[in-house]
Amino acid sequence: MEVLEAIKTRRSIRKYTTDPIDDQTLATVLEAARWAPSWANTQCWRFVVVRDSATKSKLADTLNETNPARDAIRNAPLVIAACAELGKTGHKDGEIVTDKGDWFMFDVALAMQNLVLAAHSLGLGTVYVGRFDAKAAAKILAVPEGYCFVVMTPLGYPAETKDPRPRKELPEIVFYDQWSTE
Ligand SMILES: Cc1cc2nc3c(=O)[nH]c(=O)nc-3n(C[C@H](O)[C@H](O)[C@H](O)COP(=O)(O)O)c2cc1C
Repeated sequence: MEVLEAIKTRRSIRKYTTDPIDDQTLATVLEAARWAPSWANTQCWRFVVVRDSATKSKLADTLNETNPARDAIRNAPLVIAACAELGKTGHKDGEIVTDKGDWFMFDVALAMQNLVLAAHSLGLGTVYVGRFDAKAAAKILAVPEGYCFVVMTPLGYPAETKDPRPRKELPEIVFYDQWSTE
């Protein structure tokens, strides 16, 4: 699938078939994440692939009952948890060098967007899950000290089709030469 087509046709998928994902397909998706750019090539991201049903269920319980992705985490054939090593990106010689602090959210997002677009190009569905008890989820996956559980996504074959959600028009979000309030 061509990149622009993948960007435009990807949707958040919250219902999955029970069809399993073979190791080769999973490796292709993870490989896309691996090739993301990162601050000074620090590659702070780490991924935990969860296939175990009991563990997926425990992760699902870290989502609020109102989170529409809760059942997807429980029922999809697998879940990918994206974690970050802290204190690397946005740093030089151990010191923070911008007003943004640690850039792990940015770098992990780049890797995850590669991952979800690659998944979509292979006919797989994903949905970013950011609203959950990340500290509890980190304990479930035994994420060590110095690393942070950032986001997760179910991965599987879609059992639903979704209409696109609206986006702001370009004139609302793009300015030329200088910020404009008009
Ligand atoms: C950082 C981030 C966190 C998100 N967290 C959740 C979440 O916790 N639960 C959920 O159902 N969707 C979550 N979403 C999915 C968004 O609701 C979705 O991307 C947005 O509504 C646009 O829809 P689309 O992905 O189909 O284009 C999240 C998306 C992002 C980028």
